[in-house]
Amino acid sequence: MAPMTRHRAAGGIPTHENAAYYARRAKADVGLILSEGTWIPHASAGNHMSVPRFYGADALAGWKVVLDAVHDAGGRMMPQLWHAGMVRNPQDMAVLNPGVPSIGPSGLGFEKLGDAAPAKLSRPMSLADVDGVIEAYGIAARSAEQLGFDGIEIHGGHGYLIDQFFWNVTNKRSDRFGGKIRNRSQFAAEIVRECRRTTRSDFPISFRFSQWKVANYGAILVHNPGELEQFLDPLLMAGVDILHCSTRRYWDPAFDRSPLSLAGWTRRISGKPTVIVGSIGLDRIYESRHFEPANYVANSAPLDRLLSMYANDEFDLVAVGRALLVDPNWATKVRAGRGREISPFTPKARDIYY
Ligand code: PHB
Repeated sequence: MAPMTRHRAAGGIPTHENAAYYARRAKADVGLILSEGTWIPHASAGNHMSVPRFYGADALAGWKVVLDAVHDAGGRMMPQLWHAGMVRNPQDMAVLNPGVPSIGPSGLGFEKLGDAAPAKLSRPMSLADVDGVIEAYGIAARSAEQLGFDGIEIHGGHGYLIDQFFWNVTNKRSDRFGGKIRNRSQFAAEIVRECRRTTRSDFPISFRFSQWKVANYGAILVHNPGELEQFLDPLLMAGVDILHCSTRRYWDPAFDRSPLSLAGWTRRISGKPTVIVGSIGLDRIYESRHFEPANYVANSAPLDRLLSMYANDEFDLVAVGRALLVDPNWATKVRAGRGREISPFTPKARDIYY
């Protein structure tokens, strides 16, 4: 199950309702659940009060209830550890810790979705800020291990803090965290290394990254396989176990002149298990942010396309998001060849929570 923000944890505390939601899917053949993004213990991490925290006795006790329910149902689960960076608007009264300044590599953020260029919204992160975030990731990773989670996923995609370091549009630093793509990967690598240090050596660490950003679907982080290799190398040296390649449509070729997906290239370059994701199981093409259909053209890539990419060794794991919102039994039905019984995704899924 792919991570999906649901805004159902009032005050940042996971509930019994959240536990039932995840356990229902664990019971129905979802092997591994990546949780919705959850805030690391850092005052500037969170941009919504209704998104669960991954710190504080109240929130961690809530997570334990969720995890036990998933384990009892036969599933496995990893929390997705998240810092929103400059996407967080400290003036928004619904934000976690209003008034605390937001932070990013160069203090740059997008004021509106679709803005062509970011604006200077605050000062660049100091090295003390950098250390504080790295430390907070390590603390969260240790909490995950202590609670009994099956690993962690670090959210390095979609335009949030770690991705703001990756992308040269939001990272204008001239220290070792800025400049070439390899340097822009350094912050993420130090986070992975810290999580490795604070947990047992075989505790699985998944890292999610993307070319696209919530505010800019067409953004490009790496332009070719050589840049992807430079980008990945520091993460690999830091000890990452799983690479989760977030694309909005799994069948899209990552680069010109080859049909290989981002997961496919990442697997070839890294030799690590990779996760493929993006519109898997949807029968139409949707603009995902608002769950609006871009058009009602039937999806050109049903599951047989996925199977042929699997035969081509492009990925090890399949993350399913939206299709699992409407039909918690999606995996069971696919496994049993009962695809015709699947309830199709509809834009109303945003309001469904069971
Ligand atoms: C969202 O709430 O729209 C959202 C959250 C996290 C993501 C992407 C989108 O990584």
